[in-house]
Amino acid sequence: MEKDIAYVMHGAEEIGKRVAELGKEITEDYKDKKPVVICILRGAVTFFSDLIRAMPIFMNVDFMAASSYGNSTVSSGELKIKKDLEESIEGRHVILVEDIIDSGLTIHRILGFLKERNPASIAVAALFNKERPREYELDIKYTGFSIEDQFVVGYGLDYAGDYRNLPYIGVLKREVYEGK
Ligand code: IMP
Ligand code: MG
Repeated sequence: MEKDIAYVMHGAEEIGKRVAELGKEITEDYKDKKPVVICILRGAVTFFSDLIRAMPIFMNVDFMAASSYGNSTVSSGELKIKKDLEESIEGRHVILVEDIIDSGLTIHRILGFLKERNPASIAVAALFNKERPREYELDIKYTGFSIEDQFVVGYGLDYAGDYRNLPYIGVLKREVYEGK
């Protein structure tokens, strides 16, 4: 598995430090709010589990899974909810935990979907945010790292289902894409 990685973009120790900083910052903002922290499956699961353990406050956790389909360049494209939340978020302070923002479509649509349920507030925490032009004005309150517009794997992120269990994020070798 490791031989497929061209280079490590952010190592495990560096990610750990940044997640701890984010946890501290979010803790300050939410210490009296008992937020509902939502993990967007599956890619965010590693970040989520590290982040919540860096937040020593009362919270609830919930999970959702969604997949985008249709023409991704069309803003009215659909979002299919594969797994919905277990509990109501009405009147609650929601923190949406996402692995990576690329085009922004997924998070844009999930935000629209959840806002209809009248949460008291909703904020996004994304570990990685790709530096690229977007169709949408996105408000990402907490970002771990801004990264170059490259396809990365590890720390929860996959390529065709593989590499999620790497403890760092890295860029795949070209021949991996070309060989599959
Ligand atoms: P967006 O809707 O274009 O912002 O894409 C977001 C989703 O695509 C993320 O939740 C990831 O699951 C996936 N994704 C985007 N970029 C990458 C990447 O570089 N590596 C792995 N998955 C990615
Ligand atoms: Mg994802």
